[in-house]
Amino acid sequence: MTPALTVLGIETSCDETAASVVRLGADGAVEVLSSVVASQITAHAPYGGVVPELAARAHVEIIDAIIGQAMAQAQLGFGALNGVAATAGPGLVGGVMVGLSAGKAIALARGLPLIAVNHLEGHAVSVRLAAAAPYPFLLLLASGGHCQLLSVEGVGACQRLGTTIDDAAGEAFDKIAASLGQPYPGGPALERLAASGRAARFVLPRALLGRAGCDFSFSGLKTAAARLAAAEVVTEQDRADLAASAQNAIAAQLADRSRRAMAVYVGRRPDLRPGSGRLFVVAGGVAANGAVRAALERAAAEEGFDFLAPPLEYCTDNAAMIALAGAERLVAGFRDGLDAPARPRWPLDAAAALNHPTHKPGRKGAKA
Ligand code: KG4
Ligand code: ZN
Repeated sequence: MTPALTVLGIETSCDETAASVVRLGADGAVEVLSSVVASQITAHAPYGGVVPELAARAHVEIIDAIIGQAMAQAQLGFGALNGVAATAGPGLVGGVMVGLSAGKAIALARGLPLIAVNHLEGHAVSVRLAAAAPYPFLLLLASGGHCQLLSVEGVGACQRLGTTIDDAAGEAFDKIAASLGQPYPGGPALERLAASGRAARFVLPRALLGRAGCDFSFSGLKTAAARLAAAEVVTEQDRADLAASAQNAIAAQLADRSRRAMAVYVGRRPDLRPGSGRLFVVAGGVAANGAVRAALERAAAEEGFDFLAPPLEYCTDNAAMIALAGAERLVAGFRDGLDAPARPRWPLDAAAALNHPTHKPGRKGAKA
């Protein structure tokens, strides 16, 4: 039996500086001893999106304090740790370097193993911070930078069933919200606006709906919503109606593609029966959206899948998910060297990203 492990996690891949201490018990029980998240939203808001240089500097300025807070809240000294896990990509590389370097420094100074964690793997395990979600499960990972359907077989073993061919779902939320005059990040603002809107008011394109495959496309919807916002939105009620219509269209597409992925997944894993092992999970910032969660929960129930989503605080970026991914990797025997690189691109399923690219692989490798 593996002894309990206590791991410090560090996350700096986008606009949140986060640190967390997580204990993974010998019996697999997970305890989040602390989870500190400092958002940079106010620094980026005037620009309508994340400015990479500003983000990297802001991470440098507070990373030490945030790690200190996470250790203090966990009431532990560095001597109590069994490992340090830091996000090593994918993300804005200037920011990734800050958190990864901090993790390396602590690992070196304390003689602790370092685990270089893929941010997407963090989202993949985030559901396990608060619920028993045994492997394997089908995952919809919908965040600001990614929208993928993955068969999560175990620690570090994911197969991609589908991905977006243009924008991510969170990106669509952000851009549609911006066209309605909402500040960055638009997802939560659009959800608030949609609460008093009529979703049937505007007809928006639902790309790929009903088509074969598990890929997503959101750019047509985004453009159509922006045009409507410019041409037909005058009153506060118009804005709420367009927000509700757009949210509904995004949720419908996510549910439709997820249903297809469920069929593919069942074909691959006929041993998993409804009610025993057929599990569908949604994670990432967009999983915080109530309408999206409800649409996915319905789709899962209809397809004979159990449904789980992380608590809201673990949907958006946090370091507890990085600490847990690191702890699970430590148990599985993975370690990384102090030369582990910061990676702007790092697909979870490298083979699928190379063999079925939706974006041409560039100098920095396959995208997602
Ligand atoms: O996972 P996350 O925090 O960061 C990335 O890894 O990208 O996701 C951020 C994304 C943003 O696009 C944000 O607008 C979206 O998640 N988001 C939401 C909600 N909360 C966050 N989208 C819709 N409804 C929400 N309540
Ligand atoms: Zn994320």
